[in-house]
Amino acid sequence: MCGVFGYIGEKNAVDVCLSGLEQLEYRGYDSTGIAGVHQGTISFCKKAGKLSELKKVIQMQPLSLAIAHTRWATHGKVSDQNAHPQFDEKGSVALIHNGIIENYNVLKEELRTQGVRFASETDSEVIAQLIAKYYQGDFLEAFHKTLSRLKGIFALLAIHKNHPDEIVASALHCPLAIAINEQGTETILSSDPCTLIGDNYNVIFLQSGESAKIQKGKVSLYGKSLEQIDKKSTRIEGSSQKPSKGSFEHFMIKEIFEQPLTIQKASLNIEHRMAPTFELFRDASRVLFLGCGTSAHAGQIGTLFLEDFVGIPAISEIASEARYRVSLMEPTTLCIAMSQSGETADTLSALRAVQSHGCKTIAICNSLNSTLAREADTMIFLQAGPEISVCSTKAFTSQIATLALLGIRLGKERKTLSLKEEEQLLQALERIPSEVQCVLDQASWIEKMAQKYADFNNFFFMGRRYMFPTALESALKLKEISYVNANGYPAGELKHGPLALLDAQFPVIAFCANLATEEKIVSNLMEVKARGAPILAIAPHHLTSVKEIADDVIWVPDTLDPLAPFASTVVGQLFAYFFAKTRGCAIDQPRNLAKSVTVE
Ligand code: AGP
Repeated sequence: MCGVFGYIGEKNAVDVCLSGLEQLEYRGYDSTGIAGVHQGTISFCKKAGKLSELKKVIQMQPLSLAIAHTRWATHGKVSDQNAHPQFDEKGSVALIHNGIIENYNVLKEELRTQGVRFASETDSEVIAQLIAKYYQGDFLEAFHKTLSRLKGIFALLAIHKNHPDEIVASALHCPLAIAINEQGTETILSSDPCTLIGDNYNVIFLQSGESAKIQKGKVSLYGKSLEQIDKKSTRIEGSSQKPSKGSFEHFMIKEIFEQPLTIQKASLNIEHRMAPTFELFRDASRVLFLGCGTSAHAGQIGTLFLEDFVGIPAISEIASEARYRVSLMEPTTLCIAMSQSGETADTLSALRAVQSHGCKTIAICNSLNSTLAREADTMIFLQAGPEISVCSTKAFTSQIATLALLGIRLGKERKTLSLKEEEQLLQALERIPSEVQCVLDQASWIEKMAQKYADFNNFFFMGRRYMFPTALESALKLKEISYVNANGYPAGELKHGPLALLDAQFPVIAFCANLATEEKIVSNLMEVKARGAPILAIAPHHLTSVKEIADDVIWVPDTLDPLAPFASTVVGQLFAYFFAKTRGCAIDQPRNLAKSVTVE
């Protein structure tokens, strides 16, 4: 997944593009680059490494038009040569690409037999070379001919040295927004409207197969058959300021500390925001949660909520696998797609697969203007605010808060929850922000624990029932920002093989906050202790017996089992953060990853 950005207007396009790349770096940060047309030639600068590396070397003339790119490598190593923009061999065309061209090898071979020389290992270069091959004076026509040859997914921007006032663009299953400011003096193209800072804009989202030619003050749009089309725009108020870390060292710790507020915000006007989903639930025979990574873990907790509160059968599937199982899907399966970004390609593909089988779909998402929000039948907006750190934290607790409220509301409607049960759950949910605050107040103790365990390179995280997805989520936090081998397991599963790995160098982090399974988790702790593995337990205050077994304990407030994931997950988030910090890891932008995975 990469970020593409373009600008035509009265400001210096190079400066605007650098600012746009800052907002898009979450999409990938292996390399960055900018290109424009200056005095009949393509002017450009591109560099491996984060945007800060490009800023050190860039020396470009002020331009009124430019395109820019931040890369997450799919084809070809991280290098200056493989950075975008990519060019044709004569340097007439500069192109930036988010996505994957699945038939690039065939096209590359075809061009090579015609004597075309390639400079990079990327799939994207093929596109620039094809445009140059088809170019006979009409840039848009050459671009359209090229589009007809491509297989895969893409958001493309391209410029040509003979057409200094034009950007051509197209999208196929990748997001691409075209934003015109109210005065009509500026046009911004972007993978994500989050780059719109300051002004208000009229935004057009290119649908799959559509293309555009952008000139100063003019946007021409074309449909899948290349016919000129009109599209309605959406008015978006540019964010007043760029996301900032404030007084925090990293976005991750800032977003962890935002959670008492964002969990509260999840309940703001929730009745109104959930209402469009009620009818979909009425017709549902079962529910399928779709998601990846952290969002998949939230979906797993969602299945427990729906089964416990509503009595409806629910399962959670990793989206990249679910798409191969839809043939048995009956139309009465209601699918809930979980996603912070709303742009995750695996989740979008699974959504489209279940929709092709007639299933209704709900998106629970933190981006109002995302592809997922547009393609699902309805959506519930998380309103957690921009989440910048690749490592998702506040979005997760907002997802499970939203799912808990949804489950309680449905349980009330179906009378599968008694009035007393409903009140108990809602009162306990109201206490969650302060319980999370209690965990945040223990940050220095949790930091000490992270430092104590910072030399270990292998961990098991374990838990039962609501603590199993909590263990999975906390293990993912640790592995993705500190690069250690950390895996979550159902606590009852360790004795079926994983226990063989345990020794004094293999700590187990045990999530014990599940009243219904306390005796079992204590037995599992004894099994682990008998193998000599260090134990760090995350346990509710009342479970004092844990002190006799675990090497260390981090205490969490007592609450109802379904709501225990909140405080326990925040412990896992803080542990991972301080562990990675102790090891000097990058934290907000971990190696090899990106915030929004827009490739499959
Ligand atoms: C979470 O910390 C990871 N960054 C990753 O697993 C993420 O949750 C996953 O890629 C799904 O992203 P989404 O919620 O934007 O769909």
